[in-house]
Amino acid sequence: MAEERHLTILGLESSCDDTAAAVLSRSASGVLSLRSSVVVGQTALHADFGGVVPELAARAHAEKLDHVVEEAMTEAGITRNEIDAIAVTAGPGLIGGVLSGVMLAKGLAYGLKKPLIGVNHLAGHALTPRLTDGLDYPYLMLLVSGGHCQFLQVSGPQAFVRLGGTIDDAPGEAFDKVARIMGLPQPGGPSVEKAARSGDATRFALPRPLLDREGCDMSFSGLKTAVLRQRDQLVAAQGGVTEQDRADICASFQIAMRDVLAEKSRRALALAKGITAFAVAGGVAANQTLRQALQEVATETDIRFVAPPLALCTDNAAMIAMAGLEKYLAGAVDDMSLAARPRWPLDQTASALLGSGKKGAKA
Ligand code: KG4
Ligand code: ZN
Repeated sequence: MAEERHLTILGLESSCDDTAAAVLSRSASGVLSLRSSVVVGQTALHADFGGVVPELAARAHAEKLDHVVEEAMTEAGITRNEIDAIAVTAGPGLIGGVLSGVMLAKGLAYGLKKPLIGVNHLAGHALTPRLTDGLDYPYLMLLVSGGHCQFLQVSGPQAFVRLGGTIDDAPGEAFDKVARIMGLPQPGGPSVEKAARSGDATRFALPRPLLDREGCDMSFSGLKTAVLRQRDQLVAAQGGVTEQDRADICASFQIAMRDVLAEKSRRALALAKGITAFAVAGGVAANQTLRQALQEVATETDIRFVAPPLALCTDNAAMIAMAGLEKYLAGAVDDMSLAARPRWPLDQTASALLGSGKKGAKA
């Protein structure tokens, strides 16, 4: 039985602008050990374009992937022969990058004669708290990143029910756009959070979209446009924006984002059934104001709150190795017909979300 022996999984991730590889082992008794997690970003490559350029991203993944794999194996202190299975992001994401990863994984699986496991990138994020905190199923997950925003009831490695999600932009996209509007560097989330520290969050009354609507669907594009309007009004009235204006706008925006995500989390917690915890993942989960608000919402409902360390919230391959391991243990392995998928909703029964952001189609 696969469950009773020591297993080592190599994970690969290349669906957006991070090229990553990781080695995860599970002992015969089920103890997990993350032996390496290497992430090479592409921020500088796309800096002049105001967003991720798919062709540049794909080329960079193709160039870097095998180096990143070597580095992950060296760091873990293993040879290729010690790998029991290869897990790779097979979607959703920018197709050129996903293809680079899938092709390399197929080559490795074929050469080493080891099983190949195609992993859904979103499942990787959603299963991260199983790796970092050993959460038991089912739990509620708020996945909040540059490309995604959804509430998921996670009941197994392939059992996800989407309770709600954004109908337009993802919060990370809104943070990035606000940074651009205010002349702050990318990625926008950390810049806006830093600027907001010295700002007055009550100065600008920004909208809290969809709070008047039942359920936990969300919308953030209006909030972003409201920030643009406030900046334009300041420029028209005083010829520009001061450092203080900038800090106040960032603080007002961040608090509006926090209010929406906190209230929608309250509603998702009311909709979720029999959960053991409320967990958050994705790059925006790095935001301290948001983390604190979500912790408070969980405390109100007497539910455990889990936020993985930042390096495992943003894109990485450890989460892909973890999701691959769980699929492997469930007997769900793929073969050479594994396809790269630009769209791949986790909850196949939920109706499609509208819109498509700069980081690709919403799943
Ligand atoms: O999960 P991630 O690394 O990549 C994907 O989008 O899949 O998330 C990146 C996003 C960016 O939009 C970035 O601005 C945002 O996460 N982000 C933050 C913070 N750190 C990163 N947003 C708000 N506050 C932060 N501290
Ligand atoms: Zn991601």
